[in-house]
Amino acid sequence: MAGTLMHAVQYFGYGGGPAGLKHVEVPVPIPKKDELLLKLEATSLNPIDWKIHKGVLRPFYPRRFPHIPGTDVAGEVVEVGPGVKSFKAGDKVVATTNHADGGGLAEFAVTKDRLTVSRPAEVSAAEAAALPVAGLTAHQALTQAAGINLDGSGHGPQKNILITAASGGVGHYAVQLAKLGNAHVTATCGARNIDFVKSLGADEVLDYKTPDGAALKSPSGKKYDAVIHCARDIPWSTFEPNLSADGKVLDLTPGPGAIMTFAVKKLTFSKKQLLPVLLSAKGENLDYLVKLVKEGKLKTVIDSKHSLSKAEDAWAKSIDGHATGKIIKIHQIRRNARPTRSDKRPTSGARRSTSALVHRDRRSTSAARPSRSSIDDHDRRTIAIVNRRSRSTNALVDRRTRSSIDERRARSSIAIVDRRETSALVCARRSRRSIDDRDRPPRRSSARCDRQTSGAIVPLSL
Ligand SMILES: NC(=O)c1ccc[n+]([C@@H]2O[C@H](COP(=O)([O-])OP(=O)(O)OC[C@H]3O[C@@H](n4cnc5c(N)ncnc54)[C@H](OP(=O)(O)O)[C@@H]3O)[C@@H](O)[C@H]2O)c1
Repeated sequence: MAGTLMHAVQYFGYGGGPAGLKHVEVPVPIPKKDELLLKLEATSLNPIDWKIHKGVLRPFYPRRFPHIPGTDVAGEVVEVGPGVKSFKAGDKVVATTNHADGGGLAEFAVTKDRLTVSRPAEVSAAEAAALPVAGLTAHQALTQAAGINLDGSGHGPQKNILITAASGGVGHYAVQLAKLGNAHVTATCGARNIDFVKSLGADEVLDYKTPDGAALKSPSGKKYDAVIHCARDIPWSTFEPNLSADGKVLDLTPGPGAIMTFAVKKLTFSKKQLLPVLLSAKGENLDYLVKLVKEGKLKTVIDSKHSLSKAEDAWAKSIDGHATGKIIKIHQIRRNARPTRSDKRPTSGARRSTSALVHRDRRSTSAARPSRSSIDDHDRRTIAIVNRRSRSTNALVDRRTRSSIDERRARSSIAIVDRRETSALVCARRSRRSIDDRDRPPRRSSARCDRQTSGAIVPLSL
């Protein structure tokens, strides 16, 4: 795949929601030691993807800008790096990358050998791509933190488990896995999903908008041995009276209040505890989940499917927080991968991406130009922003591109792309030159435009 470009969706800084995603063409990544290159068929989104974009894990994630988000992928192996023994080209697999690297919103992605597992023909790409973060989190919370044996072989009395937000990505797997572990499951969800959550196997279902639901009260009066807490913002005072003597709340999204409760309960040797859960993904557990799906013991429920070209819709849907099951992106395999003009290989992930844009821009390849039809909405919006040339525009750009060291590094590269692309677009409009002329050497008027428009970000629209 050396020297080919792929369609990808990137963001160049924190914030901006779906509008912060840009469609670009970047080089297909190269698998290094113990890595595989996958041609992607499906990617699933998780709330953490847009939370990282929002800056919730700043400054740790993402590692650098621009960043291709998305970690949970299914596809076909096209190339293996040195040291990979378990896979070969043509194998169908499912994998998770990590939040620092992402890479899922693209036509190709590199994954680590140890976090990649085979996907049998019985499991579709979409079903498989939904599994990694959501399924593994449910698995980890139940097996490690709540002490459930998923083969139902646990000793002692049946455990009572409460699962909040049971209709969501993690929750819908947690209900099914808890039932495999022979637990009694109480679940919360919205009224519209009560039948759905019952169909997953929940014994009791509470509408979280009713008083009993908000109080998390089991209709049969059960006290919970463990709560797989997939919802947010429920105070300890609501959990506490519903817990068994040594009941635990396993909080997937602990805020400052939850961290404080965690510390206090630990320091006071309380039997009732709140424990933050942080996923530590393991290939063998992913393999186990894939096998459960193959055997029909675990099902993936898909909220909606979106094409890569509509990544913004999937992103907005996830931010909205009302998915039933998982949000999946299906990748349309491109027909013609376009070779770059240079064999010079970029060095790493995001830098590769930017350098490719810059490189193509400098050489004015026809591939670097958005087609006339692709200039429409996105570029019109950009032109509008650029034309304002106001302080607020600069401030917006500053916020998006200057707020971290990585961003500053990326910015110089982005600015080159940006100045040339943006100025060309602006000047094309001003001087009524045709759009196709904009890769010609800049005239004096272009140089003036350059100065006026530096800082805005212009994507290659596809
Ligand atoms: N710690 C970790 O390692 C880890 C790993 C994975 C996920 N997480 C976190 O876990 C949380 C859940 O993730 P997810 O992928 O399952 O999210 P999700 O799919 O976006 O969850 C959406 C679902 O939650 C329901 N919901 C929202 N608020 C609720 C409430 N108060 N009570 C009951 N149901 C509620 C919604 O129902 P309605 O539409 O009816 O409102 C919707 O069906 C997220 O905050 C995520 O970031 C953490």
